Amino acid sequence: MGLEKPARGGSNPPDPKLFSQKKFDQKTHQKGELMEILSEIKNRKSKFLYKDTPIEKEKIELLIEAARWAPSCFNNQPWNYVLIDKDASSREAVEASLSLGNGWAKGAPLLVAVGGRTKDGCESQGIEYLLYDIGLSVMSMVIQAEHLGLGSRQMAGWNSEKLKSAVGFPHDFKPIVLVAFGYPAKPENLKEKITDRLKEKLVRARTRKAPEKNFFFDKYSE
Ligand SMILES: Cc1cc2nc3c(=O)[nH]c(=O)nc-3n(C[C@H](O)[C@H](O)[C@H](O)COP(=O)(O)O)c2cc1C
Repeated sequence: MGLEKPARGGSNPPDPKLFSQKKFDQKTHQKGELMEILSEIKNRKSKFLYKDTPIEKEKIELLIEAARWAPSCFNNQPWNYVLIDKDASSREAVEASLSLGNGWAKGAPLLVAVGGRTKDGCESQGIEYLLYDIGLSVMSMVIQAEHLGLGSRQMAGWNSEKLKSAVGFPHDFKPIVLVAFGYPAKPENLKEKITDRLKEKLVRARTRKAPEKNFFFDKYSE
């Protein structure tokens, strides 16, 4: 199991006790200035429900800035983003590409399709970095959104051919992810009723594995 043995080596080894979740929460909550980024990372919650309010142009520009300054292997920047607001000519076709369980995304004022070509990303030791680079860039956009008071939810549930043709991606592109953005709404403020299945999902607690399951000091262990 990870984090049981104290880390060895180095002049200032990290304190494994830091990973006691309770202590970690207490310590970090006391240090307000150190929490500035962490609170946005930690409190971000993927949203299903959005207000109709369109996202301001200035905020959309900031989302783009955050995504474009992400690191990438060899600085290849292999990502390609298509932003689809409710008035976009591609909107209907993009909505038609959504899987059944992602019908909620029709309510988001902004949908963002992200894709690219594997060969535009770098390859090292048999690892293709396209997906890695796109993930870094999308996460930057999502955290910037959180900072601006916007909610988001990433989606893998859509029909690839339909999405590709809706946004005009060339045939050798892979759509990788579709992301919904907008100001978060509460169910009681929505015009339309939400399904019982979605209601259930809304109250589901966010969870993460305990840090010792997949974070290790010094060496990996099972
Ligand atoms: C690559 C990826 C694909 C996802 N696909 C979907 C999806 O198709 N539909 C959906 O409702 N949520 C989707 N999600 C959201 C995850 O379910 C969510 O991030 C996860 O449950 C953790 O919850 P949190 O983001 O609120 O912390 C996806 C997230 C990622 C990163």
